[in-house]
Amino acid sequence: MPRRNKVTIVGAGNVGATCAHWIASKELADVVLVDIVEGMPQGKALDLRQAGPVEGYDLEVVGTNGYEETAGSDIVVITSGIPRKPGMSRDDLLAVNKNIVAGVATKVAEFSPGAVLIIVSNPLDAMCHVAAHASRFPRERVLGMAGVLDTARYKAFIAMELGVSVEDVHGMVLGGHGDTMVPLPRHTSIGGIPLTELLSAERIRAIVDRTAKGGAEIVALLKTGSAFYAPAAAVVAMAESILKDKKRVLPCAVLLNGEYGYKDLFIGVPAVLGKNGLERVVELSLDEGERALLANSARSVQELVTALRLE
Ligand code: NAI
Ligand code: 2OP
Repeated sequence: MPRRNKVTIVGAGNVGATCAHWIASKELADVVLVDIVEGMPQGKALDLRQAGPVEGYDLEVVGTNGYEETAGSDIVVITSGIPRKPGMSRDDLLAVNKNIVAGVATKVAEFSPGAVLIIVSNPLDAMCHVAAHASRFPRERVLGMAGVLDTARYKAFIAMELGVSVEDVHGMVLGGHGDTMVPLPRHTSIGGIPLTELLSAERIRAIVDRTAKGGAEIVALLKTGSAFYAPAAAVVAMAESILKDKKRVLPCAVLLNGEYGYKDLFIGVPAVLGKNGLERVVELSLDEGERALLANSARSVQELVTALRLE
């Protein structure tokens, strides 16, 4: 009998547990939930296992405070770390999450040397550098989740504004996961009609701005943490494309190797995701203004990477 896919999720908090929930409900893979809090991953895993008879999934869902159970995972999602509180930027999380992500990536690489890593912890692009450095995995197997989320927010706001189905909104957000991210109105269409023909420049600017501040808007409402439903859905879209070798084109943080004019920098770009992780980066033609926005975003990611002092 062919072996089932196996996904480990490190950090069984809001994002991690919601990823496990959606992976199970889509019956994508057996799940191992890892956290440092004793009992919590075990409790959430058992609870999800007990939802199986109702939802009709036959999967193993295991919770643990160690790594033995994670051995041989196909994908490892890293969400461990602290989330933002009101008034904090993603960058404020740099030092604490650097140590957490480095420690986790080292253990994960030991137990699942062939896994594809999907990094979620913030500040996202910088944490991808930390995970790549600690795991020593090739660039094909270290991916950051942010672009799918940022793009989903952008599409949701456009659909809300126009009163149309989200399914008919097509577009993409590039760049780092921060206020400098780069939504691309020129490449956005609704049922094939360019966005620029349906909305005024002023309304588009407002949506672009709301997208860039989309995470902070939720933090301000929740007050005790950050978004998790849409982030988890975004992780699961990436995992599904990899596990099913779908080759979806999804915006992800990947280590650029000359694409878009950048090298040795993780930044969000359209990527084809298949069974081995990153298959290739898709290069869009950008105009001068878009290139300048991407350069600004790359600069702010580079500043954080320099501050990490990875040797
Ligand atoms: P959370 O606080 O609900 O969960 C984090 C979990 O990590 C906690 O249960 C904690 O005990 C665990 N943890 C801490 N250190 C650990 C370690 N060494 N090993 C294993 N587990 C450890 O936070 P939430 O909301 O799930 O967010 C997690 C991270 O993801 C945050 O850094 C947040 O900023 C980031 N995030 C990133 C997004 C993106 O688009 N890239 C979107 C949403 C969140
Ligand atoms: C978000 O965008 C906090 O990065 C997280 O919701």
